[in-house]
Amino acid sequence: MTKLCSVPVISVLLVVLLLPLVNSECGYQSCNPTKPDRLNVHIVPHTHDDVGWLKTVDQYFYGANNSIQHAGVQYIIDSVVAELDKDPKRRFIYVEMAFFERWWREQDNNTRAKVKSYVDAGRLEFINGGWSMNDEACTHYNSIIDQMTLGHRFLKDTFGKCGIPKIAWHIDPFGHSREQASLFAQMGFDAFYFARISHNNRQLRRINKTMEMIWNGDPSQGGKASLMTGALYKHYDPPPAFCFDQNCNDSPIQVHLQFHIIVMHLIHLTCCKSLA
Ligand SMILES: *[C@@H]1O[C@H](CO)[C@@H](O)[C@H](O)[C@H]1NC(C)=O
Ligand SMILES: *[C@@H]1O[C@H](CO)[C@@H](O)[C@H](O)[C@H]1NC(C)=O
Ligand SMILES: *[C@@H]1O[C@H](CO)[C@@H](O)[C@H](O)[C@H]1NC(C)=O
Repeated sequence: MTKLCSVPVISVLLVVLLLPLVNSECGYQSCNPTKPDRLNVHIVPHTHDDVGWLKTVDQYFYGANNSIQHAGVQYIIDSVVAELDKDPKRRFIYVEMAFFERWWREQDNNTRAKVKSYVDAGRLEFINGGWSMNDEACTHYNSIIDQMTLGHRFLKDTFGKCGIPKIAWHIDPFGHSREQASLFAQMGFDAFYFARISHNNRQLRRINKTMEMIWNGDPSQGGKASLMTGALYKHYDPPPAFCFDQNCNDSPIQVHLQFHIIVMHLIHLTCCKSLA
C-alpha cells in the first residue's frame, strides 16, 4: 500500500484514525471521511492467520500447543468483536474463512446479529475471503477456484452483499503468478495487494513510485484479466513509526490533539524521505 506523500501509506482498504465518522453502509463509502488539504492516513488492522503452518488448523483455532507458536485464532475474533463494540470509528478486516466460519458456527444468535450489523456498516470487512490464502506457485487453478468459491459462498450466504470481498489480499504467498492475478480479476476483485517481492524490485519501485500498477494477468482475455495491483510498502509489516505492538519498539500513537500533529508530521517525514 503505497503511493505516498500525498496519499495514504495504507490506502484503498481502509479507514480509521483521527477522523470522525459514523456510517451505516458497507463498501468504500463506509470509510471514515478524509480532508482534502491533509495527508490522510487510514489504519485498518487485518488478519493474517495461517490455515496450518507450524501447528495444525485445530491447534491454531483453539490456541492449543502454544509452546510451538503462541496463536489462538478464536481469541483474535472474540477480542476484535469486543473492540468493535467500544467505538463506531473502529474497523477490522478479516481474511481467512476456514477460521471465521468455524468461529461463526460457535456463536449464539445475539453475537451473530451484532457481527452482522458491523458487516452491514462496513466496520468489519472481509477481504480475499477464500478458505485460506492459497499458495501461487504449485496450486492448480481448479483448487484455487474451489477454495475461493467455498469461502465466498459462506460470506454471501451469511452476510449477503456486504460480505462479498472487494479486495484480493495475498500478503504471504512466496511469489506471485500471473494466472493468480488473472483469476482474481475474473473473480471480480477491484484490486489485489501482496507483500512478497524481491528486495531490489521493491526498492526500485519505491524510487520510481511504481508500487501500484495495473497487472495484465492474461492478454488473451482482452482486459478482463487486468487488475489494479499494489505491493505493500514494507513486507506485511506496519509502515515506519506504526510498529508498536509486542514485536517492535515504535512509540504508541497517543490520542490527544497535540500528539496528532506530531504523528502526522512524522509520517510525512518518514514517507517522503524514504521515497525521495
Ligand atoms: C501438542 O503437540 C504434541 C507434539 O508436538 C502432541 O503430542 C500433542 O498431542 C499436541 N497437543 C494438542 C493439544 O494438540
Ligand atoms: C437462532 O436463530 C435461528 C435462526 O434464525 C433459530 O432457528 C434459532 O431458534 C435461534 N436460537 C435461539 C437460541 O434463539
Ligand atoms: C524506474 O525508472 C527508470 C527510469 O525511468 C526505468 O528505467 C526503470 O525501468 C524503472 N524501474 C521500475 C522497476 O519501474
